[in-house]
Amino acid sequence: MTALPYGGTLVNRVLSDAARREILAGIDGRKTIAVDTQGALDAEKIAIGAFSPLTGFMGEADYSGVLARSRLKNGLTWTIPIILAPRIAENPGLGDIHVGDSPVLLYHGEPIAVLHVEEKFPFDKTEFARRVYGTTEDAHPDVKKLRNAGDTIFSGPIDLINRVSGADELTPEETREEFDRRGWETVVAFQTRNPPHVAHEYIQRCALEQVDGLFIHPVVGELKKDDFPAEAVIESYQYLVDHYYPKSRVFLAPLAISMRYAGPSRAAVFLAIIRKNYGCTHFIVGRDIAGVGNYYDPYGAHALFRNLDLGIEAMLFRESYYCRKCRSMVTEKTCGHPESDHSRVSMTQIRKMIVAGEQPPIEVMRPELADLLVKYRPYLEAGLK
Ligand code: ADX
Repeated sequence: MTALPYGGTLVNRVLSDAARREILAGIDGRKTIAVDTQGALDAEKIAIGAFSPLTGFMGEADYSGVLARSRLKNGLTWTIPIILAPRIAENPGLGDIHVGDSPVLLYHGEPIAVLHVEEKFPFDKTEFARRVYGTTEDAHPDVKKLRNAGDTIFSGPIDLINRVSGADELTPEETREEFDRRGWETVVAFQTRNPPHVAHEYIQRCALEQVDGLFIHPVVGELKKDDFPAEAVIESYQYLVDHYYPKSRVFLAPLAISMRYAGPSRAAVFLAIIRKNYGCTHFIVGRDIAGVGNYYDPYGAHALFRNLDLGIEAMLFRESYYCRKCRSMVTEKTCGHPESDHSRVSMTQIRKMIVAGEQPPIEVMRPELADLLVKYRPYLEAGLK
């Protein structure tokens, strides 16, 4: 028995084949809105139920509730606004789209969804940045990205015409079936946007001791430019699953969303809710989940999850690292040796070492994985510029 969807019902806003054909047949006469990657992926995630109970882009009551109180208007906790503020540059006809219209959303010129416009309201980007990211600095990648958004939010339910992501991205319905097929009653989700280093592996193994299955669910879709590319993350995890993990107890699939670097409170809760929708009963929260730079308290999520009841249980981990005296991975809870005995892991350092052609130490990353990542060097070099 997988976890109940958030809010109780798994949303499905994917059009039937007949309805889809009808819309495509009459598409020439319809108004359109061009959306960016985040808009397209959000529409898709809403439609397949990954953002249940949302059935569309948020209206003003949900939006302001989420900004001010981290709650939807129905009282459910929700931390990241899911809104559509199309760019004017790509949408010169935006002013002609009114409440009651049902424009088709286009992504790279292809129809992906119908938006049934229920509300239009002004988008205060500074307020959004301050509330969601805790900063208005452009040095924050998501704050910088906000500059590209338009000034008007369009909201309303959506119907999905075409999937945006590849077939390897499973829907919540599909992962639920897979967990049931495997007989897993308890499933822990691992959120990540990086190839696995030994600390990731350590907390995954610790969590797996407690539950039936581990669902490794890396975010692909849209990451910041100095992150590893999604292919590197998936390829290295596939290697780990194939060569180290018990295949019957570990399942890997990508999650195509725009990563929100909103840190251990807002982003972590959002990422946990998504995994509940995918059928997981537990969610791993380590050090500085979904953090960026030094913007957030690395353990902010731990305090928060202790006081929240999302219907998915957080498994909390302090920073783990290798201790040369203990000769094992440890945390401050399990090791009494001084800092000088420890090898700490930082993905930023690993990225820099790979770019410099250096091998990260074995107690930081498995050498086969580091070797496998070398081919992504040009991509990393470009991202560091
Ligand atoms: S994240 O943005 O997806 O959180 P990352 O892929 O690095 O970034 O982290 C995935 C998960 O591993 C998160 O739960 C994070 O808190 C945890 N984590 C990463 N590094 C460590 C570490 N050294 N010790 C404990 N937890 C860690």
